[in-house]
Amino acid sequence: MYIGIDVGTSGTKVILTDANTKVLASHTSEYKLYSPQNGYAEQDAFDWRNAAFEGICAVLSKSGVSGSDVSAVGLSGQMHGLVPLDASGEPLCRAIIWCDQRTGAEAEALTGIFGRATLIEKTGNPAMTGFTAAKLLWFKNNEPSLFSKCRHVLLPKDYIRYCLTGDFATDVSDAAGTQLMNITTSDWDTELFDGLAISPEILPRIYESSEVTGVISHSAAERTGLKAGTPVVAGAADNASAAIGCGVVVEGKAFTTIGSSAVIYAVSNKPRIDGQGRIHTLRASVSSKWTVMSCTQAAGLSLKWLRETFGFTENYAEMDKLAKKVPVGSDKLIYLPFLNGERSPNPDPDARGVFIGLTSAHTKANIVRAVLEGVAFSQRACLDVFREMGVNIADMICTGGGAKSRLWIQMLADLYNCPVSTLASDEGAAMGAAILAGAKFTPGIAEVTEPSSDAARYEDFYGIYKTLYPTLKDTFGSLAKL
Ligand code: XUL
Repeated sequence: MYIGIDVGTSGTKVILTDANTKVLASHTSEYKLYSPQNGYAEQDAFDWRNAAFEGICAVLSKSGVSGSDVSAVGLSGQMHGLVPLDASGEPLCRAIIWCDQRTGAEAEALTGIFGRATLIEKTGNPAMTGFTAAKLLWFKNNEPSLFSKCRHVLLPKDYIRYCLTGDFATDVSDAAGTQLMNITTSDWDTELFDGLAISPEILPRIYESSEVTGVISHSAAERTGLKAGTPVVAGAADNASAAIGCGVVVEGKAFTTIGSSAVIYAVSNKPRIDGQGRIHTLRASVSSKWTVMSCTQAAGLSLKWLRETFGFTENYAEMDKLAKKVPVGSDKLIYLPFLNGERSPNPDPDARGVFIGLTSAHTKANIVRAVLEGVAFSQRACLDVFREMGVNIADMICTGGGAKSRLWIQMLADLYNCPVSTLASDEGAAMGAAILAGAKFTPGIAEVTEPSSDAARYEDFYGIYKTLYPTLKDTFGSLAKL
């Protein structure tokens, strides 16, 4: 038996599988996302810990499996977060998470210190507001008294590892997303730390994703019901872990995941870099492989924001039904999903969400459909960059919560102009974590959606969508300065 844990943005999911990845029990505990200021996104690391412990207890009790029958635990989690700890391992403040955009000045400072070309050569990416390096610099510059007490910096899933095992460790795919790892050597780049005047000692040791980093401690065993001494593997960043669960482990394969963010992820045999920084180059969770990956910051988050902020009584399936009532293009209403700034393909922390084309004739249904379409347009804009780079994507798997919407899948197939498949067993990143822990897996396809006759109509609206960010870029900048 194996346990896979995914520390997500809306909640932590824990699954218990048998040796062949049959899911015996699953449990998700949700928690808050704090946004104390425009552009800020924070979570409480104790919420993650409580959710992980609760999830482990729940899957053991739901399945009736004894903790001593669990052979290993795997971890996956949201990328790029900064979890600063003091000398006794206590979080110094809330974690600054992946979609936080407060670090515009620090990203510029990184480029100033190292130069854009050196950053790309060393880390595979130009300075990114969302990545951990800019957050660490922000923390150093803006919270000097907390920073002086900081002895460890962990990524979200690695904080859970620390709670389970007491070890400070991470894996290559998550380490790559810090922008402090050298993309060629897969080790912390000491010159980057020297340039930032920060000791690399505060970062954990980097392991390959399937390596064991430690074992369940006696105190964690008491809290969770697992047996002390159970191995915990390094695991992977959520997208790199989902890749394992989708079978996207060799060059030529790709998937789109629609969760809080939306990501297109393809595997490559060597680092492939977009010189314009529109999509990311990172390490894969399989050894000697890299990834090209785009990230739309607010995908599922856009829909969740809409539903919760405007008091929708419909659940997501009912929102989908509403959206189906209006035609392609949502009666000429277009949404730009930049609620949390944007990364791909227009990295800009000042970008903000937009509805364009609103009329008094528009209904709730139009707004919902425009949000779904806006996220799909953004995926197409990202895929255009992959194709421009010569990354050949002839078919696509779709996973994540968004894959439950047939309408969303059809939009992607129409806009990608290629078949989009869903998985027979879609447990996402948590499944990847269980596989990395040792469970054996053969991916199976549930359904293949071909492009439809709506594709040409979507193309008309996409043509307009593409022009909107360049037109509004300066406006976003002026708004941010007010
Ligand atoms: C990827 C990214 C997001 C988070 C969400 O770069 O920031 O996909 O990992 O969980």
